[in-house]
Amino acid sequence: MIIAKKITETREKIASAKQLGKAVVLIPTMGFLHEGHQSMVKIARNQDPNHKKIYIVMSIFVNPLQFGPNEDYEKYPRDLARDSGLAEQAGVDLLFAPSVAEMYPDGKSLTAVQVSQITEVLCGASRQGHFQGVATVVTKLFNIIQPDEAYFGLKDYQQVAVIKQMTKDLNSPVKIVAFPTVRESDGLAKSSRNAYLSSEDRRQAPVLFRSLQEAEARIIEGETCTEVVREEIRQRISSESNGKIDYVEIRKADNLAAVDSIDCPVVIALAVRFGTTRLIDNIVVEV
Ligand code: PAJ
Repeated sequence: MIIAKKITETREKIASAKQLGKAVVLIPTMGFLHEGHQSMVKIARNQDPNHKKIYIVMSIFVNPLQFGPNEDYEKYPRDLARDSGLAEQAGVDLLFAPSVAEMYPDGKSLTAVQVSQITEVLCGASRQGHFQGVATVVTKLFNIIQPDEAYFGLKDYQQVAVIKQMTKDLNSPVKIVAFPTVRESDGLAKSSRNAYLSSEDRRQAPVLFRSLQEAEARIIEGETCTEVVREEIRQRISSESNGKIDYVEIRKADNLAAVDSIDCPVVIALAVRFGTTRLIDNIVVEV
């Protein structure tokens, strides 16, 4: 596995791989890798264990543009030595790990990619500017790597929706592929931010996914009122944890539009704070 910190070197290596006829897959991350990140690499590598057809590029970059002023940019866990071992084990060919100065040489970007409407709800409502930062850095990564496909996890359901909308609207040739959420054995969605949780909060946090599964069961049994299902989730989380609910919402699975009555595939999405750690999770319910 090659570790490249510079854009020029990255472009050279990718050009060589393309000359050999390899398809380039990009897996963008902010590092502190876990099984959620690695599973995407492994799925790509299993299709081409001999490194003949697919060139897997993983980026690790904690993108300052997508963090708000009071968020965890400074303390976000960073460990390139640990990450490069895990990336190599999973089957990455090239690890692109640029510095902030390499990505934003002027200290800022005067250009931003703004996807409207779907960025204004759910996490976009409580994290002003977050999705603009994500869309901008992902556009930069697409321009640097020029992948055939880019992989994203459905744990960040809204992020996948934003990236798909962006590539559609801007006629990007990159195919976006979405992967299911990888969980701990007790159901908690794997996240680099789980490392911040106190042991008591870690013990309580699985209530998030439990409440989503119960909500799914209620909808499948015939409950159609979003308000009833949302209230049950809120009750469950408040009675079984110290988590402070940021939002619990039920929206159309395809375009994140609001729904009153559940009569089409929906996503139930939530964000809950444990201490200063904000956890998100979601479940898609097909009706
Ligand atoms: P990060 O949080 O590091 O996540 C990188 C990718 O891994 C995202 O596509 C995310 O959805 C996926 N992922 C994280 N946890 C997962 C889990 N438990 N199961 C499955 N997939 C999971 O998301 C970002 O970084 C950034 O916003 C980024 C897209 C890199 C832009 O900066």
